[in-house]
Amino acid sequence: MKKIQIAPARPVYPSPAALITSVDSAGRANIITLAEVFNISIANPVIVGIAIRPATFSHGLIVETGQFVVNQPTAAMAKQVDQCGSTSGRDGVDKFARFGLTPLPAAVVKPPLIAECPVNVECELTGRQTVGDHDLFLGEVVAVHVDEDKLDADGHILTDRLDPLAYIEGDYWSLGQAFAKHGFSGPIE
Ligand SMILES: Cc1cc2nc3c(=O)[nH]c(=O)nc-3n(C[C@H](O)[C@H](O)[C@H](O)COP(=O)(O)O)c2cc1C
Repeated sequence: MKKIQIAPARPVYPSPAALITSVDSAGRANIITLAEVFNISIANPVIVGIAIRPATFSHGLIVETGQFVVNQPTAAMAKQVDQCGSTSGRDGVDKFARFGLTPLPAAVVKPPLIAECPVNVECELTGRQTVGDHDLFLGEVVAVHVDEDKLDADGHILTDRLDPLAYIEGDYWSLGQAFAKHGFSGPIE
């Protein structure tokens, strides 16, 4: 197959399309949709990265209060994800009310969890660095919440119940079926 070179833009896929919550100093919450969300230090400690343009409202909130929550939506929530990523909270818009999302108190940080998202990751900001046109925020994970019906009896996530949302080249994707275990160590149950 002949290869054609193209201009690079978000060249690595798939990205998540996650909903990140933050608050201002008065506790008012905002939501931003981010594709640039990734695991960096995976166990000791657990640190995630998120990359945000300085022009967004959320950027200033996270700089100001030093906390955020990564809420991982289902593919069925794609419309709300798109709406949260096409509207700014800067003009006083309450994205929870406008887009039918429900805030829940977090365990450690001030930004709320989004109830409709099956997995919510609470983070304390530990670093920030400008990288090209985005700022990279590092968040140490201080609590993870999972819907009870997405866990087995041992507390492991039942990944076939997550219905994750992916973002590729401007298109929203659902991921379909798992087909193998890590190390090809057994059947998918
Ligand atoms: C699918 C999707 C992915 C996005 N990914 C990012 C991202 O990684 N970084 C970023 O700064 N903005 C990203 N955006 C744009 C922001 O979500 C958008 O500018 C939002 O309106 C900012 O909200 P705020 O001003 O209330 O913080 C994305 C938008 C969509 C729809």
